Amino acid sequence: MKILITGGKGMLGRTLQKELICDNEIVVADLPEWDILDADAFTEKTIAAAPDVVIHCAAMTKVDDCETKRDLAFKLNEEGSRNVALACKAAGARLIAISTDYVFSGEPPREPWAWSEQDIPRPRTVYGASKFAGEQMIHMILPDAAILRIAWLYGAGGPSFVHTMAKLGAQEGPALKVVNDQRGNPTSTKVVADVIRFLISRPDVSGIIHGTCEDQCTWYDLTVELFRLMGLKREVVPCTTEEFPRPAPRPRNSALKKSVLNLLGYRTPRWQDALRDFVASPDSGL
Ligand SMILES: NC(=O)c1ccc[n+]([C@@H]2O[C@H](COP(=O)([O-])OP(=O)(O)OC[C@H]3O[C@@H](n4cnc5c(N)ncnc54)[C@H](OP(=O)(O)O)[C@@H]3O)[C@@H](O)[C@H]2O)c1
Repeated sequence: MKILITGGKGMLGRTLQKELICDNEIVVADLPEWDILDADAFTEKTIAAAPDVVIHCAAMTKVDDCETKRDLAFKLNEEGSRNVALACKAAGARLIAISTDYVFSGEPPREPWAWSEQDIPRPRTVYGASKFAGEQMIHMILPDAAILRIAWLYGAGGPSFVHTMAKLGAQEGPALKVVNDQRGNPTSTKVVADVIRFLISRPDVSGIIHGTCEDQCTWYDLTVELFRLMGLKREVVPCTTEEFPRPAPRPRNSALKKSVLNLLGYRTPRWQDALRDFVASPDSGL
């Protein structure tokens, strides 16, 4: 099978290349050769490449930058996704597009809580709103596309929260304060690659699909577990969101329920198990 990966040089794209290469021919579609904002050239190249499947990872992913560069965020995440969907339509390729937990408000009606595919997105950030607009564009142009929402991502080489904390944990210094009132599903790019491999084997599956690890935790819990796995001794203390103000408001709870995958009999691993495997992997970059 021939698979084209937009944003193929990014953190997720690099893992997808590595994980999917043995059974497939891979086309890496990233800047500068491939630009999802150049609609005509992108469609022409996609038709010429003739992929069976396009995995759309390219995006503006820096959440805080999106707040100050709203136009650029919508250009890449909405218009760029529209261009990719149009190219897939013209080339007759199946589209698997990557989206995010940030489409949800992060304000759960009650606790414990996890957002299901049926819950209505109410993004509170420019990043979330632009990614949701991209989802809608894709659905309008290609109703058979699969839109895979993932979250709290880390993968070989980073950059990610896990890489940042591993670096800080190895340094001497005062106790590290880590936010303990935001909940989500830490997820490795390897787990996402496995979900995508499953979706490739199921061309009948379309629409919104949540694809994060099982179980939820806070950033503090994630750091404590990372330090335990890596044998890092620096002290970690829990703190509140208010102690770490950011330009883009972070969701209080953006954990995702995997209703669609579970209905199909597919279960993602627990975040603790995926993190253990990542820490043990030789190319983690930790
Ligand atoms: N990282 C997370 O925590 C997270 C969480 C939930 C969902 N997601 C989603 O997962 C997907 C992959 O994320 P990631 O962390 O792997 O992102 P990433 O590392 O930022 O990779 C995105 C890639 O897209 C490229 N790109 C940017 N503009 C482009 C354009 N106009 N045409 C073609 N390529 C372009 C980037 O190139 P440059 O580097 O040169 O700009 C980069 O190589 C994204 O859709 C993101 O929204 C990520």
